[in-house]
Amino acid sequence: MPLPPPGPDSHVLVTGASSGIGAEIARALSARGYPTLLVARREEALTDLAAELSRRTGLTSEVHAADLGDDDGRDTVRDLLLHDERVIGLVNAAGFGVTGRVAGLAEREEDRAALDGLVRLNVLALHDLTVAAIGAFVRRARSTTRTGAILNVSSITAFQPLPGVASYAASKAFVQSFSEAVHTELSGTGVSLTTLSPGLTRTGFADAASTDAFDKAPGFTVGEASDVAEAGVAAMAAGHRSIVPGLVNQLSAAGGRLAPRTLLLPALNSAMDWFG
Ligand SMILES: NC(=O)c1ccc[n+]([C@@H]2O[C@H](COP(=O)([O-])OP(=O)(O)OC[C@H]3O[C@@H](n4cnc5c(N)ncnc54)[C@H](OP(=O)(O)O)[C@@H]3O)[C@@H](O)[C@H]2O)c1
Repeated sequence: MPLPPPGPDSHVLVTGASSGIGAEIARALSARGYPTLLVARREEALTDLAAELSRRTGLTSEVHAADLGDDDGRDTVRDLLLHDERVIGLVNAAGFGVTGRVAGLAEREEDRAALDGLVRLNVLALHDLTVAAIGAFVRRARSTTRTGAILNVSSITAFQPLPGVASYAASKAFVQSFSEAVHTELSGTGVSLTTLSPGLTRTGFADAASTDAFDKAPGFTVGEASDVAEAGVAAMAAGHRSIVPGLVNQLSAAGGRLAPRTLLLPALNSAMDWFG
């Protein structure tokens, strides 16, 4: 098992831990006995979660407030992965979406900055932290046989281009492709990289992306963050390549992969008009 057994020196660093899927993943890891390093910008939310985890499990969680879209914030967290010997796991859950067609977003400086921030967080930070963790974990696995595990949060939007959220879907296609390829590269090293690709999930995501798609979507298509987190942590612990939680999302991912682009993209373009 690439995720070592829980213990006082088996820490997992979780980004995006201040809300939604990242917070639920921290809860799921803590319930399994793993102390956590909690990373996001909102220090107060992280401190509240650390107190909750300590109450529930008796485990200490460390709070590391950092903006991962910013070079300094990313450097700080990368240093933790490179030098803190207690860290045996990394979860990259921090991420956000921007809704709107690119021609419209290009008109406003604020929207262009949001797209830039999206790529910095969803792609650059995830890539940078993953590479740092792999370097540290593989080096340690060679010299001590202590294993390590990484969980990268992608999305079912990774499986086809998506008009209306083009940059977000492309960022998740990057996460999916990069992570699945590296999972295979890591075979036999004692280190694993698992990709979690949720569909619509009730979190702070819709507010951050300024979309009401979650309200318009049929109830059965919207999942709970705790279920997504459980599926992700179980797959991470087992060292699986990837997990798409829920039948509806698995069908959507298969459709996105297999449907001819000439038919799929115009249909998605019209659907995104309705979803807003
Ligand atoms: N909800 C969905 O439907 C859905 C579906 C598929 C995939 N996902 C993916 O799931 C992951 C978690 O999203 P969520 O749904 O749980 O949304 P969420 O509740 O909005 O959580 C996003 C997390 O990312 C953190 N974050 C945002 N910008 C950051 C920055 N610059 N630096 C550091 N941390 C930052 C936020 O913390 P702070 O604001 O405190 O920094 C928060 O903890 C994302 O990668 C998202 O793309 C979500």
